[in-house]
Amino acid sequence: MSDIKKGLIGVISDETKVSEVMPEINSLTYRGYAVQDLCENCKFEEVAYLILNNDLPNKKQLKDFENQEKINRRISNNLKNIIRNYPKNAHPMDTTRTSVSYMGLEDPEVNNNSPEANYRKSIRLMAKMSTIVAASFRVKRGENIIDPNNDLGFCENFFHMCFGKIPSKEVVKAFDASMTLYAEHSFNASTFTSRVISSSLSDLHGAITGAIASLKGPLHGGANEAVAHMIKEVGSADKAKDFILSKIKKKQLIMGFGHRVYRNGDSRVPTMTKYYHKTAKYYQNTELPKISKVLEDTMLKEKNIKPNLDFPAGPTYYLMGFDIDFFTPIFIVSRITGWCAHVMEQFENNKLIRPLSKYIGEPLRKVSNN
Ligand code: COA
Repeated sequence: MSDIKKGLIGVISDETKVSEVMPEINSLTYRGYAVQDLCENCKFEEVAYLILNNDLPNKKQLKDFENQEKINRRISNNLKNIIRNYPKNAHPMDTTRTSVSYMGLEDPEVNNNSPEANYRKSIRLMAKMSTIVAASFRVKRGENIIDPNNDLGFCENFFHMCFGKIPSKEVVKAFDASMTLYAEHSFNASTFTSRVISSSLSDLHGAITGAIASLKGPLHGGANEAVAHMIKEVGSADKAKDFILSKIKKKQLIMGFGHRVYRNGDSRVPTMTKYYHKTAKYYQNTELPKISKVLEDTMLKEKNIKPNLDFPAGPTYYLMGFDIDFFTPIFIVSRITGWCAHVMEQFENNKLIRPLSKYIGEPLRKVSNN
């Protein structure tokens, strides 16, 4: 009982065919394909299909998958009204979590855990997730909800529903690449949460609701928001070094740096940084990448800690015009694919996840009568 693996560090709790993180060679593959390769050669819809189906789609499979995604984009009027009536100061991660839970109440197959039903529910969740997030984005800004446009691809439609317009091809491509990079990452905290929930043979919507709660935390998905706040607070490149030094002196965490699995750099960072720089160039913003560079160099010199995916993704979304509190919900729009694949995999060969704990509380005592 003395061998406690706090934080489950280094524990291999199950097998998976969805993705492989190989920190020693700085590599991440989805179903055997390197993420960099997928980013350059596939659009997000193809990557989502791959994650959910184990293979890249042929033309017909892609068309069918895209059609399924498109016809499931709309959300009910009831849900739209609920979104309109959330407390104004509620965080979008909390409203998104509640919306997904509500969608479970509406889904006719909520308690059907057959592989076919779970696949159909996965498509519905993927399709409606971006509609929910975009609707919340508009409502929080005091604007009307924009319905999905089925003539548009997944990423273009998301911009359409958020802003009522679609940015340039370069910007859509950068967003698409971020979707691919965020889609899946083996047994991270939120994915593990979804597997723990489904291991009791609970339902997919419940598993995703729990996963969203896990992703919200600043040690996990919430870091992309924290990075944008940090870069805003720093303000200009000449202040970036002192900012980091003062945080280090106060022994504070610097968001967007470090990783539980990658100790020598996050495999997704070079690709996302490339698209961050392209986006900054498109918007003619030279200051943001300069701030990032000083932050990164200083962290490396002072702490020898490298950035994670949230470090370039946060400022990229900021440049695109998304409000900062929507950065982690945008992460959900992508990660829903990985979560659903893991829940389906858990159901395929389920074993209740139930670890042990070492008791360190009061010794046995009796209830006294005084
Ligand atoms: N800023 C400052 N110091 C950091 C750091 C950061 N972002 N990340 C790790 N460290 C330090 C820790 O303080 C610790 O120092 P110590 O040994 O002197 O106590 C050491 O590096 C090892 O880190 P540890 O906390 O043991 O790593 P972990 O695997 O438990 O944590 C994270 C991993 C991701 C939770 C952690 O790096 C972190 O909190 N990062 C910031 C949040 C973030 O960006 N999250 C997104 C992850 S994708």
